[in-house]
Order: sequence, then structure tokens, then C-alpha cells
Amino acid sequence: MAIFNLNINGKKQEVDVDPATPMLWVLREHLDLVGTKYGCGIAQCGACTIHLGDIAMRSCVLPVSQVGNQKITTIEGLSENGDHPVQKAWLEHDVPQCGYCQAGQIMNATAFLKANPKPGDAEIEAAMNGNICRCGTYIRIKAAIHTAASK
Ligand code: FES
Ligand code: FES
Repeated sequence: MAIFNLNINGKKQEVDVDPATPMLWVLREHLDLVGTKYGCGIAQCGACTIHLGDIAMRSCVLPVSQVGNQKITTIEGLSENGDHPVQKAWLEHDVPQCGYCQAGQIMNATAFLKANPKPGDAEIEAAMNGNICRCGTYIRIKAAIHTAASK
């Protein structure tokens, strides 16, 4: 076990965990930030996506020991009141079905739009390709990303 001082959603958080513990479990089990979801555990589905700095990362394969001082943002910290433009666009298009994959979808989409504010269809498809949705909400996800990009 070791102590890690993390910067999560703008707050300092101290955890005492095995250095190999994936951030997904640090968030969910130690800090009660359960918006980040477990899907596959092997970086294949995107349900666990968070931001490390401005980069979308799969927290299921990100050991806590690799985070250091970098800023972590989870779905809980994306906006104060769920009013990030991407979240608003998600509501406007009624994107979620069961909802399980959606935190990861939104975290991936927000990091993507930050890097590419005016994407075309093919760029959106390529960027979102690794985020799996069993409910097949892909068409609404793409529409919502276009809406968010237009605002
Ligand atoms: S749970 Fe991390 S990518 Fe599937
Ligand atoms: S909304 Fe159900 S898995 Fe995506």
C-alpha cells in the first residue's frame, strides 16, 4: 500500500492503496465517484473513460501510480450542474437508453471536442469508435456532438 495525493475534480484527495490499483477502482471504491463505469476492464469498451489533464483515458487500465500531479476529471466534475454544452446536447437529443455507457461517451466526446471543436462526421465516428453502446445510441451520440460543436 502507498499514499497517493490526487487532484480529482478540482479537489485534493488522499488515498492509501496498492500502487497498481486502476483509477477506476480508486474512484469507485475509495472515493465513491461511481459515475465512472466498469464495462470490460481491458480498455475495450470506453465505459470507464475519464480525463487525465485534457486527454480521455480508460481508467480501468490506468494505475494510480501513473497519475502523479495530473488533473483528473470524472463525469461528476465535468460541470457544476450538468450544464456542460455536451451534457446539454445529450439531453436535447435524448441520447441515453439504459445509460450505462453514457458517462464514458460524454467524457470521450468532451475531450474530443476540446481538441477538435468543429469535427465532421467521419472524425466523430473515428473518435467515438472505441466507445461501445449495447443499446445502439450511436446515431443520437453523433447528432449531439454536432449540436454541442455548433454552440
Ligand atoms: S471498463 Fe475500461 S474500457 Fe471497458
Ligand atoms: S445507453 Fe445502454 S449501453 Fe449505451
